[in-house]
Amino acid sequence: EKNGYDHFMLKEIHEQPKALQNTMAGRVNSENGSIVFDELQWTKDKVNGWNKVSIVACGTAYHAGLIGKSVIEELTRTPVDVEVASEFRYRRPIVDEKTLVIVVSQSGETADTLAALRESQKLGAQVLAITNVVGSSIAREANQVILTNAGPEIAVASTKAYTTQILSFYLIGIYMAQLKEQITAEYRNELVQSLQQTPDQITEILEHTKGLRWYAESIKDAKSVFFLGRGIDHAVSLEGSLKLKEISYIHSEAYAAGELKHGTLALIEEGTPIVALNTQEEVYEKMLGNIQEVKARGAQVLGVALEGNMKIWQYVDETCYIPVTHALLTPILSVVPLQLISYYTALELGNDVDKPRNLAKSVTVE
Ligand code: F6R
Repeated sequence: EKNGYDHFMLKEIHEQPKALQNTMAGRVNSENGSIVFDELQWTKDKVNGWNKVSIVACGTAYHAGLIGKSVIEELTRTPVDVEVASEFRYRRPIVDEKTLVIVVSQSGETADTLAALRESQKLGAQVLAITNVVGSSIAREANQVILTNAGPEIAVASTKAYTTQILSFYLIGIYMAQLKEQITAEYRNELVQSLQQTPDQITEILEHTKGLRWYAESIKDAKSVFFLGRGIDHAVSLEGSLKLKEISYIHSEAYAAGELKHGTLALIEEGTPIVALNTQEEVYEKMLGNIQEVKARGAQVLGVALEGNMKIWQYVDETCYIPVTHALLTPILSVVPLQLISYYTALELGNDVDKPRNLAKSVTVE
């Protein structure tokens, strides 16, 4: 059932183009580029009635929520909080009938996320669940459900669940903006067309993975690996770091690149591997500055940048290019090389890729 792949994780990484198509299926009107969410029954008044969105999830799903925040805030200017469920459930979260709570859970069975859902409903909020499992506890108890339709995810390290969750957030963000009449048809079309290209763009990335195997070989004995980025690149770097930790067992951290000077720089020494995401035009030069800072301390830097971007060569040791897309959509693509780096590193180390030590696929107890 691994379909010729050595591991479920690799199979699931390769299933992403298809999974993304399935998430989009029936939700994009190809005639006018508008978003259709029959399952939501949202109206302009309903959406305008929410003065805040709270996203709650654990682990990788939480990282998807961080992208969701950027997308929803950018497209609708509605404030969005993102919190891990185990924290949310034990404080007094500011949530009421004017809050849209979005819980994200691949399995739909994560105990903390389910508890956060119930707590939110108690406080009067409507809960929308983004989940991959029909009939799961979270799918059953949520007021509304968006299914990611990614197909079963077996490997403990989540891959296609993440990309389909973030795609769901793009669709939700555009849909909210469309209902609120806050997005021009032109801008919406630009985003939707770019979204529709992402499956083929991932296929393109997957066709050029040799360099990442070599890279994995080069970091397998590292004491620590750091992932740096700004804005949504930082959100993606958190996911890249989690992936590497959970299956390679190499210590790894993700930092907002501007935070380096506030402490982390002390950890950088000769040969420390750093993955520097630099896909955002607006902070491109700032990131180059941060790369210079770590290079000056002897770091080995892999830059992740958009195709055609040559300038980064002078700053890094190696570059991994991803296809050009809209600035808001880069996470769908930039996470793929990070997934592969963690996969190949775990493979090099002879670890059990699909069943890493100490971890379970579904965390149904606290
Ligand atoms: C990491 C991973 C976990 C899950 C987390 C939430 O690769 O798989 O961090 O994302 O346990 O699980 P779900 O999405 O099922 O609620």
